[in-house]
Amino acid sequence: MDTGVDGTGVDGTGGNGTGDGFKQATASSGKTDKELRGDYSAMRADFTIDQGWDRYTDTDHALWRTLYDRQSRLLPRYAAPEFMDCLSRLDAGDGVPDFRRASERLEAATGWTIVAVPGLIPEGAFFDHLAARRFPVTNWIRKPEEMDYLEEPDVFHDFFGHVPLLMHPVFADYMQAYGKGGQRALKLGRIENLARLYWYTVEFGLIAGRDGLKVFGAGILSSAGETPYAIESRSPNRIGFELERVMRTRYRIDDYQQTYFVIDSFEQLFEATFVDFGPIYQRLAGLPEFGPAEVLSTDRVFTHGTQERVRGLAAE
Ligand SMILES: [Fe+2]
Repeated sequence: MDTGVDGTGVDGTGGNGTGDGFKQATASSGKTDKELRGDYSAMRADFTIDQGWDRYTDTDHALWRTLYDRQSRLLPRYAAPEFMDCLSRLDAGDGVPDFRRASERLEAATGWTIVAVPGLIPEGAFFDHLAARRFPVTNWIRKPEEMDYLEEPDVFHDFFGHVPLLMHPVFADYMQAYGKGGQRALKLGRIENLARLYWYTVEFGLIAGRDGLKVFGAGILSSAGETPYAIESRSPNRIGFELERVMRTRYRIDDYQQTYFVIDSFEQLFEATFVDFGPIYQRLAGLPEFGPAEVLSTDRVFTHGTQERVRGLAAE
């Protein structure tokens, strides 16, 4: 498979990306004039640092527990059962997790480990880590006043949102394949197509379960506002996953998504993407893109959204 960037997590109410969409926007375009928040001074060549677990304060751990408990209460209703199962096996509810301890569990389950990073890192380095089954997790945690709004991904988004499904064997393979695909897409200059795949699956994906639609995307599951919104709101479209459709669809980084794509299973996602993306990129290069709210006649539509959230925002 061919894959590539890191998507975002919109956090809280109309928040900006708390996820790695920012990572992507930053790293892939190289155009950010924002000061990144982390301490990059002690970084190694592969952009990793020591987590510095002993340096977390009581306030940090308390904030983690507050965020963890708030999201955990939403999970039974909204999250994919696979996510909940994996999260419980990480036993990470007591405070900011020690990455070494979590890595031991993760490595035993799927061969993945977690590495600490100061924040957003260049996408090439990000892909290299994924391809080696290492997931970069930001080491700092937001401030108490940033419970619902954060511009960069912090440890809560990266760990709570992303790490659990790395315990799932199929999803774990998908993520590694994505990293390898990213390395290739960089060479081919097709990062944008690949970034959309990450965005609409890893960050904002829904899955059709026995009890209806559930969330597996990290950007949603680390956000108290978007978690119920993604499942219950009349506003967004919910459309069956189709690889090329997704790769052609632009997305928003400044608000909740206007369209969510729905996979049938992680196996379907892995199989659909375990192909040579080279010819797909060539074909897509000559085709128009779709807007973030567009519904096509060829779509498998679960919900044709009203887009009332966007209209409401526009009226404000
Ligand atoms: Fe993310």
